[in-house]
Amino acid sequence: MPFELNRVVPWGRSYDEYVRMFDLRDEQLGQRILGCADGPAAFNVELTHRGGQIMSCDPLYGYSPTEIQARIDECFELVLRQTRNNADGFVWSETIPSVEALGEIRRQAMDAFLKDLPIGRSAGRYVAAELPDLPFRDGAFDLALCSHFLFPYDTLGLDFHRQSVASLLRVAQEVRIFPLLTLDRRLSPYLNQVVQMAESIGCTADVVPTNYEFQRGANRMLVLRNVVAR
Ligand SMILES: C[S@@+](CC[C@H](N)C(=O)[O-])C[C@H]1O[C@@H](n2cnc3c(N)ncnc32)[C@H](O)[C@@H]1O
Repeated sequence: MPFELNRVVPWGRSYDEYVRMFDLRDEQLGQRILGCADGPAAFNVELTHRGGQIMSCDPLYGYSPTEIQARIDECFELVLRQTRNNADGFVWSETIPSVEALGEIRRQAMDAFLKDLPIGRSAGRYVAAELPDLPFRDGAFDLALCSHFLFPYDTLGLDFHRQSVASLLRVAQEVRIFPLLTLDRRLSPYLNQVVQMAESIGCTADVVPTNYEFQRGANRMLVLRNVVAR
């Protein structure tokens, strides 16, 4: 189905959340990173300020900052209302103590992204591209991250998941995917088949606990590695 802005709910996480979701240490932060389906997250902005090498891809980047801002404004209160109505499904902690704090953290991240988008796009840091076919050369990245796109949306189907993960493994030496749950907090029905596909093309696959849990129960990532260096 072609990507349309009015069907997407833009929602972006902060740099700190990425670091915790993917357990990123100095070693990984110094690598050539692809943020796939990064949307309006602030990971690219902040890592660039810290001297990192990052490229983000998302079909959202085909739209202007004004169009994206308008769509964020349209969806923002609705997402917070849904979160409030489903508050038991989330872990409220010092980091995100309330729905209001969540709104503030997400708004700051998305504002930082919107400000960075024009300059980042000119610099080639934001590329309008979409899974399952990525327009990057084999082994272009050391690490590909995919936050809150593969696995949560099980309506995308098994073939889409398998093809997307194969593409990520083609362009990056290592792939980390978080979370492993669907939006209604079930373990993704595609996890096992994705792992089998990765192993069948000679990769290792590990489910690894992370120091991040906001959606209740979502505290593990999938780490896939090409065993032979490209
Ligand atoms: C829930 S957001 C996650 C944003 C960011 N990764 C984060 O965790 O804050 C999902 C993102 O997936 C993007 N998306 C939708 N279809 C896509 C596709 N086929 N390939 C890559 N990204 C896609 C959307 O535009 C949206 O920005």
